[in-house]
Amino acid sequence: MSDILSLLLLSTIIAALITLGWWLLIASEGVYLGRWMVILLYDRFAHKYDGVKQYQREYEEMFVAKPLMDAIKPQANPMVLDVATGTGRLPLALARHQSFEGHTVAADLSRKMLHHATKNFYPYESATFIWCPAENLPFPDNTFDIVTCLEALEFMSNPQAVVQELVRVLRPGGMLLTSQRVNTKLMPGKTWTSQQLQEILKEAGISDAKAQIWTVDYRKVWGTKAGESAPKGVQPLDHILRCPKCTEQTMRLEKGEWLCESCAKRAKVGVDGVIELYPLY
Ligand SMILES: C[S@@+](CC[C@H](N)C(=O)[O-])C[C@H]1O[C@@H](n2cnc3c(N)ncnc32)[C@H](O)[C@@H]1O
Repeated sequence: MSDILSLLLLSTIIAALITLGWWLLIASEGVYLGRWMVILLYDRFAHKYDGVKQYQREYEEMFVAKPLMDAIKPQANPMVLDVATGTGRLPLALARHQSFEGHTVAADLSRKMLHHATKNFYPYESATFIWCPAENLPFPDNTFDIVTCLEALEFMSNPQAVVQELVRVLRPGGMLLTSQRVNTKLMPGKTWTSQQLQEILKEAGISDAKAQIWTVDYRKVWGTKAGESAPKGVQPLDHILRCPKCTEQTMRLEKGEWLCESCAKRAKVGVDGVIELYPLY
């Protein structure tokens, strides 16, 4: 083979490898490499997330918090769980909403995203931030009035199992709000159509899921869990937090750490206030 041909071949291979790397790490945000890579990338780029997203607080309040609060009227004090909260978009939108008297538990597996969430959330007090995975939420069944998971299902290795977990902790008659990515070119096989997501929600117990136009990249998909139950309202965390190690619901705050009375495991609370449950899994 001539030198020119070898050089051409080598450059083609290098260009293909760079493109593959770009697609695996940047374009598809690590989703084909597994949960550890997704979280590693969110940790690495957490400081840039808000700059990229450019969320406008007024719009978030209008298009995220208001529809939710309108949908659950007349309840004003819902116990909310926001799974994969990122930098805290949902708890902040709710906290800023004039009629919100509830509390949001905001969970994410990226410790750094949570750190930025706590900074964004200051000086509001209506949220608790927990470092834990969406696949195994540390709460009993039927705990929350509202469960949300925005712009995140496509990053999960087993999104169907996560949907079931979201619905498990939602009370019958409670509201689930999630999103369906419409800009799917760079993530083949990792996104659902509205119809597919509605079917998956239905199977999980959301009887009336509907998809609506929302943003350029996402549809909003929401509905209520089949059945009826009384609104839960704000509940103290030590009434609902389950130890991920022994799964007993016996955690309480002691000397700045969450202690499991059953297996004696302890979860630290970071200086930013994030409950660090993940090391207990
Ligand atoms: C695109 S961001 C969305 C954040 C936020 N919900 C929003 O709408 O701005 C996706 C988030 O999902 C989180 N995430 C990805 N996989 C997760 C998992 N298995 N468990 C918990 N969080 C996860 C990431 O850390 C990241 O913060």
